Amino acid sequence: MHLADLLSLKGKVCLVTGGAGLYGRHITEALAEAGGTVVTASRSLEAGQHLADELARRGLAVAALTVDQADHESVMQLKAELEQRHGRLDVFINNAVARPMKRYEDPLAAWAESMRVNATGMFDITREMADLIARGGGGSIVNIASMQGVYAPDFMLYEGTAMDSPPDYHFHKGGLITLTRYLARKLATRNIRVNAVSPGGLLGDQDPQFLGRYNQKVPLGRMALPDDIKGVVVFLASPASAYITGENILMDGGLHA
Ligand SMILES: NC(=O)c1ccc[n+]([C@@H]2O[C@H](COP(=O)([O-])OP(=O)(O)OC[C@H]3O[C@@H](n4cnc5c(N)ncnc54)[C@H](O)[C@@H]3O)[C@@H](O)[C@H]2O)c1
Repeated sequence: MHLADLLSLKGKVCLVTGGAGLYGRHITEALAEAGGTVVTASRSLEAGQHLADELARRGLAVAALTVDQADHESVMQLKAELEQRHGRLDVFINNAVARPMKRYEDPLAAWAESMRVNATGMFDITREMADLIARGGGGSIVNIASMQGVYAPDFMLYEGTAMDSPPDYHFHKGGLITLTRYLARKLATRNIRVNAVSPGGLLGDQDPQFLGRYNQKVPLGRMALPDDIKGVVVFLASPASAYITGENILMDGGLHA
C-alpha cells in the first residue's frame, strides 16, 4: 500500500472524548486532516461545536456531541447516536480527563471523584466504544495517557510556584497504560488494536520559573507543542501501525531517555 494510504483515515469514523480541550483540539484536527470523519464529545457542547465550526470552514468533517463519561446512560446515548448517524465507529481516542484533585493534601472526596470519571467512567466508555468498533469489523483505540503514568514527578520543578502534580493523576494514568496492554490482548480477536501515547506537558501559560527549570531538563529543550501529538495519534489510528498493539509511546522530548 502507498504510504499516503497507510496514513489515511478516509472513510473512518473517529471519536475523540474531550476533543476540544488543550491536546484534544489538535488530535481532532489531525484526524480530520488525515481524512477521518471526526466526532468530539465532552460534557458541554459549546467548545466542541465552536471547534467543529472552525474546522468545517476549512472543509474538514468534524461534528460535536455531548457525553459525561461518568454517567452510564450518557455513554449509551452517545453510542446510540454514533450508531444512528454513522452506523459504525473505527477509531476511539480516549482523551478526556477530569482534574478534581490539585495536590497531595486534597480531601479524599477529590480522589474519589477522579476515580469516578478517570477510572470507572473511562473504562465504561472504552468498553462500550470497543463493542461498537467490534460490531463494525474492528479498528483502533488510542489511549491518551501521560509520562506521569510512567514516572514520578520531579517536585523540585514546582518549587516556588503554584504548580503541583497530584497523586490521583499518576495512579489513573499508570492504570490506563496497563489497561492498554490488557485490552490489546483481550480485543485482538475482535480485530481491535489498542495503544497508548504518553505525552509530556503541552506548552501553555506555565510559571516562568517552572518553564526555565523544565526546559533545561528536557534533552530537546522545550515543552510539547500542538503539532507534536498530531502525527503519533494519526499513526496509531491508521493502518500504518497495523502490526502494533499494546504499545505505549512516550512523547516527552527525551525527558526520560
Ligand atoms: N495538557 C497536558 O500538558 C497533558 C500532558 C500529558 C497528558 N495529557 C493528557 O491529554 C489528555 C487531554 O488533556 P488536556 O490537558 O488537553 O485536558 P483538558 O482539561 O484541556 O481537556 C479535558 C477534556 O475532558 C473533558 N471531560 C472532563 N470530564 C469529562 C467527563 N466526565 N465526560 C466527558 N468529558 C469530560 C473536558 O470537558 C475537556 O474537554 C488527557 O488524557 C491528559 O491526561 C495532557
